[in-house]
Amino acid sequence: MAQSQGRRAPKVSPPLAFWGVPRNRVSVVRPHKEIPVTEKKKLRSQAWFGANDIQGFIGRSWMKNQGYPHDLFDGRPVIGICNTWSELTPCNGHFRELADWVKRGVWEAGGFPAEFPVMSLGETLLRPTSMLFRNLASMDVEESIRANPIDGVVLLMGCDKTTPSLLMGAASCDLPTIGLSGGPMLNGRFQDKTLGSGTGVWQMSEDTRAGKMTTAEFLAAESCMNRSKGHCMTMGTASTMACMVEALGMGLPGNAAIPAVDARRYTQAQLTGRRIVEMVKSDLKMSQILTRKAFENAIRANAAIGGSTNAVVHLLALAARIGVELSLKDWDDLGSQVSCLVNLQPSGKHLMEDFYYAGGLPAVLKELADKKLLNMDALTVNGRTLGENIEGAPCWNRDVIHTYDAPFKAEAGIAVLQGNLAPNGAVIKPSAGSPHLFKHRGRAVVFENIEDFHHRINDEALDVDETCVMVLKNCGPKGYPGMAEVGNMPLPPKVLRKGIKDMVRVSDARMSGTAYGTVVLHVSPEAAAGGVLALVQNGDMIELDVAARRLVLEVDDATLEMRRKAWVPPPMPTRGYAKLYVDHVLQAEKGADLDFLVGGSGAAVPRESH
Ligand code: FES
Repeated sequence: MAQSQGRRAPKVSPPLAFWGVPRNRVSVVRPHKEIPVTEKKKLRSQAWFGANDIQGFIGRSWMKNQGYPHDLFDGRPVIGICNTWSELTPCNGHFRELADWVKRGVWEAGGFPAEFPVMSLGETLLRPTSMLFRNLASMDVEESIRANPIDGVVLLMGCDKTTPSLLMGAASCDLPTIGLSGGPMLNGRFQDKTLGSGTGVWQMSEDTRAGKMTTAEFLAAESCMNRSKGHCMTMGTASTMACMVEALGMGLPGNAAIPAVDARRYTQAQLTGRRIVEMVKSDLKMSQILTRKAFENAIRANAAIGGSTNAVVHLLALAARIGVELSLKDWDDLGSQVSCLVNLQPSGKHLMEDFYYAGGLPAVLKELADKKLLNMDALTVNGRTLGENIEGAPCWNRDVIHTYDAPFKAEAGIAVLQGNLAPNGAVIKPSAGSPHLFKHRGRAVVFENIEDFHHRINDEALDVDETCVMVLKNCGPKGYPGMAEVGNMPLPPKVLRKGIKDMVRVSDARMSGTAYGTVVLHVSPEAAAGGVLALVQNGDMIELDVAARRLVLEVDDATLEMRRKAWVPPPMPTRGYAKLYVDHVLQAEKGADLDFLVGGSGAAVPRESH
């Protein structure tokens, strides 16, 4: 102390810890500029990030623990990347990588990407059926979008139900939204032959049951069918829905067919990221894309690609979410006169990789456009019309994509059947069926549920032949519950051994998009809801007439009334989501959505919680 007396204390700089780094250098913890007030009202994300108060502090500060600098919260569009990645959804197993490419595009365009997970629905593993959870996943998507500081959304979709669940949930919010499909797997190949996912399983299983294929060969095919990242590469439900995304205008041109492992799939992801930022800036909402015209285009496109019957249920539900009037009858009126142009399994022989090389969906749409079968002025997510997007689209292989004048199959689209067995409708996909069975009258062989079917179908004593009509009950929305894909019942072995490959089958179930056969599906009302289907008995005669759109149970009303009095409804779930589902699920002709989810609640910012 004595030594220091009379001297001036040395000038001491603020401790480094105060600033983090020496002054005059850029620091991550420097006092920040206030968020400009003028920016606050521009985007909904600013309700979280744009205030200079405790709400803004909380919104920004916790996000910064991920390393984001302060200037990212300056009012630029926040893009939610809705990701259905899951190791239990193998078709979407590459989606983390895909999301990174979307982020590149978002950053490039001046946006702020934020990836978030939602319930992922894997078709092959989820039990009792992934369809039970489509509406639950859509609720997750809707609420996740609305509850978060998101201005625009990219939907990453692949495996069957991940596409409709994301579209439905996003539609109920109606923000600027763009769909990006994950792409199909490369072609399967086994014993030097093309092997399609799904379709090949059904065929090989029948061959094994008929004694034409050994179990060892059947098991060897496992490793040869699904040999790359991506979703099923047949024109099953996943590929169909990816085509629907593109035909609806909800994805960039080329979305449907680029294989998952092709570099151009990642280019597509990057361009999608760029585009969603522009969509937010121009406030191009989902409801401006998903118009009645867009759905009409999608229905015709579905016929031309030989698409899945599942698209019927999913698009009906989606239309109801976004407020577009669409009915089961529209599928018949608009699509049933459209020929199938695409020679892909299960209706034909090629696979999605071939489809992409041949020109993909733009080449198909161009054929429809040339016949004036499309609404060319329907707006798409890139800000151009569908007509502009497909102008001059080439086709490189006419064995894969036929011309409209020389179609692959004239019988296409979805035929909607009615009659006393299906007063509210049923559907059949003629391109996957056998024309010689399209007008058929046969004796009913009835299975009360899928367990009953599995228990008896291989019984040599089962009283059945190829002229019979196999009837399966209690597999509809309430009955399964979840409307399982079991409508394409495998044929009895004693019929298969005769070389018979198809029989008429009728149920309230759905059918995998990769499956085939003369299969009447989605019978409504379903058996578990007390539909006439519940009253069918062994030996009743059933008439199917696809051309006349008839499905008739030849039993008089008085007899049906007597049977109804004796009918006992099947037991229903009593707790949890399954109870909520069966209490509120709509029938197939309404899209099998939950009644309280029809429509939307918009994207208004929820009230503050702090
Ligand atoms: Fe995922 Fe077929 S199992 S698309």
